[in-house]
Amino acid sequence: MTVHIGAKSGQIAETVLMPGDPYRAKWAAQTFLEGAELVNEVRGMLGFTGTYKGNRVTIQGSGMGMPSLSIYANELIRDYNAQTLIRIGSCGGMQPQVGIRDVIVAMTASTITSPSSGIFRELNFAPCADYGLLSAAVKAAEARGTKTHVGGIYSSDVFYAERPDLDEQMVRHGILGVEMEAAELYTLAARHGRRALAVLTVSDHLQTGEALPSEDREKTFGDMVEIALEAAFT
Ligand code: HPA
Repeated sequence: MTVHIGAKSGQIAETVLMPGDPYRAKWAAQTFLEGAELVNEVRGMLGFTGTYKGNRVTIQGSGMGMPSLSIYANELIRDYNAQTLIRIGSCGGMQPQVGIRDVIVAMTASTITSPSSGIFRELNFAPCADYGLLSAAVKAAEARGTKTHVGGIYSSDVFYAERPDLDEQMVRHGILGVEMEAAELYTLAARHGRRALAVLTVSDHLQTGEALPSEDREKTFGDMVEIALEAAFT
């Protein structure tokens, strides 16, 4: 047990998928894992462990934003020895070629600030994905025929942004989408020598204002979960 995770030692797998939403963790575990068991419900941040094609996997909610994700990722890495951490979640599209329902595999995650920024002081550290996971995810997405984009994303600290100029610079520099967690996950994985990746579904678009209707979300998010699971065990 840790401060925020009630699982006993051994109840968390070496491979952990991390959706922001704890109910999405429950849905993904029930839909894609065999023998999924609830291993955490502290603060309602549900976590489940089961198997995917015979491989043990935990699906643990991270909450929204980098401070919340940092708590869970730190405890998973330090106390439960998680080796592979894959964020699965939604993002806002930022480029015209990035459509609603498309998948983004995040090669890098830019950020203004994260829980880790303090340790870098004047250095602009470049959080990046594990290449092996990234290339396996791209292959899995291609095999499924899922429309997928690979490139940089922006991990913002705010959902209700008040700096349109920042979004403009992100768009101008080819950033594919915006979410709120990946940069800290990539930084923690780098610090502790673990593998990390973010596989994201475009749920809304900053330029067109389009948004995924809630009834379409399950099927679309399912593609992302399967891509993440395939990537983890390739
Ligand atoms: N901004 C930040 N995070 C998000 C968004 C967004 O527009 N959409 C989904 N996650």
